[in-house]
Amino acid sequence: MSKPRALVTRGIFDEALEMIRETIDVDLWEDEMPPSRDVLLEKVKGVDGLLCLLTDKVDSELMDTAGPQLKVVSQIAVGFDNIDIPEATRRNIPVGNTPDVLTQTTADAAWALLLAAARRIGESERAVRSGNWRTWHPLHYLGQDVYNATLGIIGMGRIGIEVAKRSSGFNMQVLYSDIYRREDLEKEYGFKYVDLETIYKESDFISVHTVLSEETHHLISTKEFGIMKNNAVIVNAARGPIIDSKALYKALSEQTIAAAGLDVTDPEPIPVDDPLLTLENCVIVPHIASASVKTRREMSMISAENLIRGIKGERLLTPVNPEVYD
Ligand code: DGY
Repeated sequence: MSKPRALVTRGIFDEALEMIRETIDVDLWEDEMPPSRDVLLEKVKGVDGLLCLLTDKVDSELMDTAGPQLKVVSQIAVGFDNIDIPEATRRNIPVGNTPDVLTQTTADAAWALLLAAARRIGESERAVRSGNWRTWHPLHYLGQDVYNATLGIIGMGRIGIEVAKRSSGFNMQVLYSDIYRREDLEKEYGFKYVDLETIYKESDFISVHTVLSEETHHLISTKEFGIMKNNAVIVNAARGPIIDSKALYKALSEQTIAAAGLDVTDPEPIPVDDPLLTLENCVIVPHIASASVKTRREMSMISAENLIRGIKGERLLTPVNPEVYD
């Protein structure tokens, strides 16, 4: 009997691929760059399972093109804004993601960005490399203190919580906003539940950890930057479009806020002529927050396991739309 077929849209860890190949015929897209839309649509025809990335748009057109035998969509990421979940659910297709395993790694990266932006690490490192470190000067490269400052968390999910917990070593006050209030965290850690406006007004550091949706698209724009403190540092390790990048550019270039640390941009990759890249007070890295060896290996294994289970008709380890099992 022939094996079921799956499309894997980018290289993942070998052990994950080997595990899939034990029972499934894999069409692996080996290029560094994502398949074009046309190629993706061609390759998905007739597959039983799809293991995809946040750079692959999985919508009704793709599901139609794949055909009615498509049993599972397994995303190697925790975020899934590239996938039309209601559409998958309507078709009874379980969608898997990779939560939990990347939480700590991503929280570490948000802190790396926070500290780098606060203490002007990118700018001063560039100065060293370009021969502009000429002397020690009492007024050079003055940044923002993190110790004793106020940290505002937008989106108190798994990653937001871990970012907030790390602040205790810096003796920070934590404000948070979320659709759910977490009184347990308030009791245990002293975090304070506030509205978004209070986050913007009172925080020295703002770290964004909400999902991207219609409601959060450009959640932070001109008005929001306008009420932030002049020393505010904003960090985004969630999704680029949550921040309006034109408004961010204006706030940073006019120094109405102090700095930004971005793991994500809008669009991705950020074009090399984007004005944000001209700013010394904007640290930008290429969406690497979950990129540790251990975490990416675990993400590979979970997405492989979800793919295999979905093709076998078993419940996924981490379904995004568990209602398909009702
Ligand atoms: C995710 O998982 O959603 C990140 O953006 C990439 O790890």
